[in-house]
Amino acid sequence: MSALPVRLDRRSRDPLGAQLSAQVRDLVARGTLRRGDRLPSTRALAADLGVARSVAEQAYDQLTAEGWLTARRGAGTFVAAEAVPRPAPRPRRTEGQGGGLVRLSTGEPWIDPRHRAGWRRAWREVSAATPPRGYDDPCGLPELRVALAERLARTRGLVVDPDEVVVTAGTTAGFRDLLAVLPGGAVGVEDPGYRAAVATARAAGRAVVDLPAQARHDEASLRGLAGAYVTPAHQHPLGRVMPADDRLALLAASRATGAVVVEDDYDSELRYDVAPVPALAALGRDRVAYLGTASKSAPPGMRIGWLVPPPGVLDDVARHRAVVHDVGAWPTQRALLTLLRDGWLDAVLRTARRVYAERAARVAAVLAPHAVPAATSAGMYSTWLLPQDAALSAREAARRAGFDLPLLSELCRSAPETGVVVGFGGVSDAELDRALAAIGAGLGG
Ligand SMILES: Cc1ncc(COP(=O)(O)O)c(C=O)c1O
Repeated sequence: MSALPVRLDRRSRDPLGAQLSAQVRDLVARGTLRRGDRLPSTRALAADLGVARSVAEQAYDQLTAEGWLTARRGAGTFVAAEAVPRPAPRPRRTEGQGGGLVRLSTGEPWIDPRHRAGWRRAWREVSAATPPRGYDDPCGLPELRVALAERLARTRGLVVDPDEVVVTAGTTAGFRDLLAVLPGGAVGVEDPGYRAAVATARAAGRAVVDLPAQARHDEASLRGLAGAYVTPAHQHPLGRVMPADDRLALLAASRATGAVVVEDDYDSELRYDVAPVPALAALGRDRVAYLGTASKSAPPGMRIGWLVPPPGVLDDVARHRAVVHDVGAWPTQRALLTLLRDGWLDAVLRTARRVYAERAARVAAVLAPHAVPAATSAGMYSTWLLPQDAALSAREAARRAGFDLPLLSELCRSAPETGVVVGFGGVSDAELDRALAAIGAGLGG
């Protein structure tokens, strides 16, 4: 393969120059090469292909004459034609329904633009740092694991050794690591619950058992399961904090049945009113696999999170990651290290908490006359219980105003809950106001 994806056949009766021009023409026509792309010099291309330079010159001359290429003196040869127009950037779109709606997403954080300087500083530092020469520790960058262990102790009451922290590409990536090493068997997931967890378990070949989200999970509910996926700090999407008695019962059930508790601790630091409740893993380190994520305090596109497996599973996870070569991207890990060290994540969370509290109050002002809050609000969404026909009216009104409002029923499998889940992290204040005005009108003013 040359610098261009072309291959010349010396046994063909077609001259090499004609073969080359036909293939380059095809690359432009199919959109592989696009207007403005620079082609290799005729000397470099000829050397790459092992042909005389005149072959490359002849092909470029031909395509220039046909209008596919253009030569700029002193700059080189460029693609002049645009066979396949570049797609225009699409507005934030909603899953599966097109139409350019802005989704009132339950998972998109709001990051104050004032934090941009710190973000840029972290990436500058990445560009100046030297990456490891080979494949690094599959469990993650050692300095980052130290910083994460320190943070888990400080913010989540979870005291762990840095060697017990595994850097992942986000919550579901960590869940996949666990699913790969847990014994066979179905996985329980809260219902209503996190759809990506359900899809991840199913994709790993596991049957999914519905665990009623507000119920206590005892020995009977965990029997036969390999794991139970829960969101104790802020049940997704009903919002309750798992009561202390239920936490103890779940750990006891896990000990009795062998099912590992998988704690998705996605937004625990975003309580507006009180300090976050300590992690369930802090109460039962031996039974709980803890999943944390940077996606609620940094752009989710960064794709980074952390997993603290129970001690009995840690070695298997490390071995699995080494075998499948699942090593986190070094630049992302290195950037997160700086963001943690500089207190950037904490600063983002502090400002976001204030903004979310204020936005949650605005949502409540519009919805409270019509709906029942599922729980006190925390994080970047609030859930409101409504009859399904009212929820559908609210959704339709939001849609007409350009917004996609998630329905609670979409997060249910067998649970009968209905209502709306208003995400307010990924929109501006003005967008939220427009969406709320529409939702309020849809619910009867
Ligand atoms: C319940 C829940 N868990 C975890 C996450 C974070 O996922 P990730 O770490 O893959 O970005 C989200 C994001 O929306 C979520 O809603």
